Amino acid sequence: MTETTERDVFAQAVIDGLSAPHKSLPCRYFYDARGSELFEAITEAPEYYPTRTELGLLQAQAQDIAARSPRGAVLVEFGSGSSRKTEVLLAAMKNLAAYVPIDVSGDALDEAAARLAKRFPNLRVLPVTGDFSAPLDLPRDLADAPRIGFFPGSTIGNFAPDAARELLAGLRAQLAGGSLIIGVDLRKELSVLLPAYNDAAGVTADFNLNLLVRINRELDGTFDLRGFRHEAVWNAPDSRIEMHLVSRRAQEASAAGRTFRFAEGERIHTENSCKYDLDAFARLAGQAGWRVSRVWTDPNDWFSLQQLDAA
Ligand code: AVJ
Repeated sequence: MTETTERDVFAQAVIDGLSAPHKSLPCRYFYDARGSELFEAITEAPEYYPTRTELGLLQAQAQDIAARSPRGAVLVEFGSGSSRKTEVLLAAMKNLAAYVPIDVSGDALDEAAARLAKRFPNLRVLPVTGDFSAPLDLPRDLADAPRIGFFPGSTIGNFAPDAARELLAGLRAQLAGGSLIIGVDLRKELSVLLPAYNDAAGVTADFNLNLLVRINRELDGTFDLRGFRHEAVWNAPDSRIEMHLVSRRAQEASAAGRTFRFAEGERIHTENSCKYDLDAFARLAGQAGWRVSRVWTDPNDWFSLQQLDAA
């Protein structure tokens, strides 16, 4: 038996997604090196309000968040990336026993750890490479320290309700009775929401189309990039922004040894970004064993940071 590689897993996901009657691709594959760069550029687009708004909220509320957290806690961040937002929190949390950033990208972790070591020489940083579903294996002296989870960026919005519940319940188990600080994007006017996912400079379009670039490179794909266009739409019943790649004409493309047919106007669904009312999110969190103990919002009520406590 030969071992299953990451490429095999990607190939199978592409084959499954493009063979289904409603074609789709998993959004986690957006983030190759180029995709991560494009996402960083999205966060700087004037139309993309979430990152800026969440950072402002953190700056305004870090003292309050710190004051509500136990002394000697371990701060565990799920999907830490560059840890830029965390710096704001770390500057306010003076009594942490350690900071545990978890990310699939070892490079991002190394970079962040080096930067944090300079700015916070007394902070113990224990990076963990991997996805955040694996059980946390902390050094023995930290095993009984209270844990605080940090899950910013409204990444939770990428998960459909069932998966979101499962994820939140998993984080609850990881945090062993500790609380979770989570960023949750809120429902708002479409005049704000839609441009955030369809910026005028076309960065989001490039981000979406980069998925096909990646398939071409990594899976010997033959996608013609001019044959597809980016689309972001609001799905009202499911309260989410959806991104799609729309086939501009009838065409075929191959990848991973298979050929896929596209009708003119046919869509590949590439991402969901769920937007919550405070009530709806509290219900979802409740079903995962969490109680919302504090909500911080910006003056426009566009974005929320929430403290969840184990119910
Ligand atoms: C990183 C999942 C929060 O849904 O807003 C940005 C990803 N997609 N523009 C989001 C994304 C298109 C982003 N999250």
